[in-house]
Amino acid sequence: MGTLQDCLHARRSVRNFQDRPVPRDTLQGLAADAVLAPSGSNIQPWEFILVDDPELVGSIVTYSPGIVHAPPCLAVICSDQERALRKGGRLGKEQLALMDISMAAENLMLSAVDRGLGSCAVKSFPPQVIQKLLGLPENIWPELIVTLGYPVSARLRVPPKRPAGEMIHFNGWGEEDCAGLL
Ligand SMILES: Cc1cc2nc3c(=O)[nH]c(=O)nc-3n(C[C@H](O)[C@H](O)[C@H](O)COP(=O)(O)O)c2cc1C
Repeated sequence: MGTLQDCLHARRSVRNFQDRPVPRDTLQGLAADAVLAPSGSNIQPWEFILVDDPELVGSIVTYSPGIVHAPPCLAVICSDQERALRKGGRLGKEQLALMDISMAAENLMLSAVDRGLGSCAVKSFPPQVIQKLLGLPENIWPELIVTLGYPVSARLRVPPKRPAGEMIHFNGWGEEDCAGLL
């Protein structure tokens, strides 16, 4: 794809995928890029369940209102709640783990763009059901699903975005902003 800037600008939530499998080494590469993310107290609480079995993908989609069209594969990004508590205490379990998962997920999605793949973060799913479907131990909690596949359409509409300048403040609230930006 090109530079990080190219990937940042090209990433869109993709919800329609070609019926084309994604090679397993590509999926593994995505997860390997995800774990390069920073981690609070370096707990690294993340676990990645890569799902490319069509029947299992279908079952997950059936129970997940946030996924409308079945992707060829998906990553269920989980936190190890026991590890987060043991290494980071209450803060680790209640806050850092979810922050870490989010950072890893963005890495994964940018890496997907770089590899010509589309993705969509999905939070609308029943974690307990997904836990059962995947045979996860009690401490491995599904935090976020990222659907993955080759996009049907190469150009997707950019959803409404607040102008960056509106949200940027130098040296405190109400001080200099960047209204001219974007
Ligand atoms: C935490 C989180 C949860 C999301 N959950 C869903 C979801 O359940 N279903 C869905 O279709 N999109 C979901 N999205 C995608 C957002 O709708 C999307 O990122 C947003 O509309 C902006 O579009 P963009 O990603 O193309 O910039 C989620 C995104 C995030 C960050």
